[in-house]
Amino acid sequence: MPLRRALTLALLIEAALAAAAAAAALALMGPPAPPAGPVLALAGGLAGGLVGALALGGRLATAVRRPLRKIAAAAWPGAEGRLRPVPLAEASFAEGRETIAAFNVMAAHLDRTIDTLAQGKNTLESVLAHMSDALLILDARGVLTLINPAAERIFGVAAPLVAGHRLIEVLRHFELDALIREAERERAPVARELVVHRPQHRVLRVQASPVRGRRGEFLGTVVVAQDITDLRRTDLVRQEFVANVSHELRTPLAALRTLAEALLDGAAGDREVGPRFLNQIVAEVDRLTLLVNDLLDLSAIESGRAKMEMAPVPLGEMAEDVAAKFRPVADRRRIALRLEPPAGPLLAWGDRERLAQAVANLVDNAVKYTPDGGTVTVSVEGRGDLVAVAVADTGIGIAPEHLPRIFERFYRVDRSRSRALGGTGLGLSIVKHIATSHGGRVEVESTEGRGSRFTLLLPRVPDGIPERG
Ligand SMILES: Nc1ncnc2c1ncn2[C@@H]1O[C@H](COP(=O)(O)OP(=O)(O)OP(=O)(O)O)[C@@H](O)[C@H]1O
Ligand SMILES: [Mg+2]
Repeated sequence: MPLRRALTLALLIEAALAAAAAAAALALMGPPAPPAGPVLALAGGLAGGLVGALALGGRLATAVRRPLRKIAAAAWPGAEGRLRPVPLAEASFAEGRETIAAFNVMAAHLDRTIDTLAQGKNTLESVLAHMSDALLILDARGVLTLINPAAERIFGVAAPLVAGHRLIEVLRHFELDALIREAERERAPVARELVVHRPQHRVLRVQASPVRGRRGEFLGTVVVAQDITDLRRTDLVRQEFVANVSHELRTPLAALRTLAEALLDGAAGDREVGPRFLNQIVAEVDRLTLLVNDLLDLSAIESGRAKMEMAPVPLGEMAEDVAAKFRPVADRRRIALRLEPPAGPLLAWGDRERLAQAVANLVDNAVKYTPDGGTVTVSVEGRGDLVAVAVADTGIGIAPEHLPRIFERFYRVDRSRSRALGGTGLGLSIVKHIATSHGGRVEVESTEGRGSRFTLLLPRVPDGIPERG
């Protein structure tokens, strides 16, 4: 290292100068005094010369020492651990100045090297801190030497407490330990899916890679764990979805088959039963068509494939159109279908047809789940940057334990009741997807036995922007 070499050199020069001064002093005390006379004169001359030489040596020594001391003082790093440059004026002779200049160049070089290293260290630390994958570095004995924040979070440990301990002692995950040992034995990276149960259930894809030195010696293991819990959950949801769809299709298909068989067995010739069975077949086919249409809609909105014609939509007008469609059903059941329009023109940014579909699903539910003689109110109002379309009913309501789940596909509080009413449990999940694809959301408040209120919140178009004609 150049710094150490410079210091050694400075110390050596100091020592050499001290030795020279001692030698001069010895020479002064020197051999026993020679006879007087010319000898004395000679001695006097010699002594004078020596004194002169000594004085010169002393000045020289001071001139050399001072810059060396300065270098040494500067070399002693300050609180910030950096060397300071030494002014050239500190040396009164050329070699001293050269030494100082060389030292200054070296100090500047060292400064840059420290800066580069610090920068590299900061970059590495911020990469480690912000990476979403867990990273664990173990030495050859399986002792944890590094653990990043993602690993702390995933494994529920604190880095300062576990660093310096063997992985198996702190994580107590035997499968993970076995994986690491397998990688060490195989001398190659090994990857596997593992589950951790604490502090939370997580599915991880873990890769352990052994690290070897130049001569092939085992240095340790780098372990990277990727959290794939959400990915696995999506797989599960997809599997459940397929199972649900199959189940929903099977029921009307079975009914169709039974009805068709009955007709074949002679019911077709019966003037009373025949037409009734045929009507039931039409109803089941309608149900199937509805289900398939809902599924297609849902998948189109969810995947972003649904073509959305975005424009300012006058919500009051749109709510009126939807209410008009449900009026005949409501009248038949003596349900008062009321409309509370906004004070002025209120515009939402969206696809008019999709928004109308969402409101229609809410009104359909409100009418379906409200006993005869009840009331359904559709209101439209501005709420800051949002517009709210609320559908309130005086119906059966929803118990609190079901509320968080009603927006899931196929979720129905009362399966048989919903099915009897022709429902498949897709209506609210379509509403939710329409809301989110518009940058909005849907909220629900409900009291069992008293009624429910669903509110669709959408981004509002600022006043003054005309609706498209
Ligand atoms: N206004 C409401 N009052 C009471 N319960 C409701 C109301 N709206 C929804 N629900 C409950 O939430 C469930 C899910 O509603 P959703 O609209 O998704 O399905 P559905 O109405 O059963 O069938 P679909 O809408 O597909 O015809 C319903 O089965 C019902 O149990
Ligand atoms: Mg519905």
